[in-house]
Amino acid sequence: METKEIVDLCKRHTVFSWSAQKNVNPIAADRAEGIYFWDAAGKRYIDFNSQLMCVNAGHNHPKIVAAVKAQADKLCFVFPGMATEPRARLGKLLDEVTPSHITKFFFTNGGAEANEAAIRAARLFTGRHKILSRYRSYHGGTHGAMMLTGEPRRWPNEPGAPGFVKVMDPVPYRYSFGETEEEQTKNNLTYLAEVIDMEGPQSIAAMFIEPVLGTNGILPPPKGYLAGLRALLDQHGILLVCDEVMAGFGRTGKWFSFEHGGIKPDMICMAKGLTGAVLPLGALGISETIASHFEENVFWSGLTYSSHPMGIAAAIAAVEVVRDEGLVDRAAQMQDVMLKHMAELAAKHPSVAHYRATGLFGAMDFRRNSQGDPLSEGYNVTHPAIGKLSAALLDKGLFTMARWSMLYCNPPLTITAEQMGEAFAIIDECLGIIDEAFEG
Ligand SMILES: Cc1ncc(COP(=O)(O)O)c(C=O)c1O
Repeated sequence: METKEIVDLCKRHTVFSWSAQKNVNPIAADRAEGIYFWDAAGKRYIDFNSQLMCVNAGHNHPKIVAAVKAQADKLCFVFPGMATEPRARLGKLLDEVTPSHITKFFFTNGGAEANEAAIRAARLFTGRHKILSRYRSYHGGTHGAMMLTGEPRRWPNEPGAPGFVKVMDPVPYRYSFGETEEEQTKNNLTYLAEVIDMEGPQSIAAMFIEPVLGTNGILPPPKGYLAGLRALLDQHGILLVCDEVMAGFGRTGKWFSFEHGGIKPDMICMAKGLTGAVLPLGALGISETIASHFEENVFWSGLTYSSHPMGIAAAIAAVEVVRDEGLVDRAAQMQDVMLKHMAELAAKHPSVAHYRATGLFGAMDFRRNSQGDPLSEGYNVTHPAIGKLSAALLDKGLFTMARWSMLYCNPPLTITAEQMGEAFAIIDECLGIIDEAFEG
């Protein structure tokens, strides 16, 4: 098929996520390899967002593809009540790469379902019903995960289920306010302690966090926040659930982003990098203590495709690739390469306000004026220059995401220094568009 026919048929007969359908203008993707993908007309793009921050091992990694093919030849599917060798191997592998107290895993089709399972497990384990999460968060598109989510995609889906309480994260207003990280941590935890008192600690089952915040800012927590949060929740017997769907499996230069804070969550939600996005699979990792509760008590969750052998086979290979190719350390090392390029752009372009990277989890923020006001005025507003920037980047062969006042920089963890230079050269060429919107 020609590009036009592919796009027209996709638009006529299929629904695109989170969009008014007439505004969608998709690339007709054809094939992919490493950090690149090609459209149906043969144009090559650098994938500077790993699609939705999930193609961690690069596109079509041969070892993951081979594992999927081999599994397809042997056993495509059995129902989740059966034991399989891939299931046995992945459980053991995840036990090895997660902290020692996380010993058991429930397999889902993706990240939202891992969060759904965590909500239920937390309620069943504690006998409490309220769930805390943060306004700046995205936890998935299913009903419970949507109520857990703080960001604007929740709004049109309300009213939702009761029992979900939102709190501000530790960067409450603008991090350019000049507060120290220690102050941000202290102020936020004081406020959070008060919310817990007001909600009734005995009714709160768990708090969900993205330890390094993903879609809503690629923001690492201020110093001491994760440890302080863990201690506060412990005082009240509230479980800590770390949503590592986006940040897990090496993205931040650690296996999991909570490791930056030296804490131990009670449950871990995973997806995306778990299979390097070769097939859909999510997982909920639970502590030994929670696991032992479900020895006697029913785990009231299930899915036809839980522990699907194909997804599991992809996950084993993807986790082994991350481990054996040293991609966690590689992301940590490439952080400095990314930051150096960002610093150069900030020195050259007056519109660049802030930049950051934790491993290869990076973003740049743009400002409207030298007072530092964000380019886009107001919450959930995207300045037209951001749309133009995305179009210009695509035109020059770089795919990434940009919204609000922010450009995401999340390439596959396999990216080389040379390829990084190639990507930032394209961004440099296009940033004049944002500089034009800078008022001085
Ligand atoms: C932190 C986080 N949690 C959960 C999800 C939902 O995962 P999925 O789309 O696989 O259901 C996402 C997706 O972007 C995410 O970033």
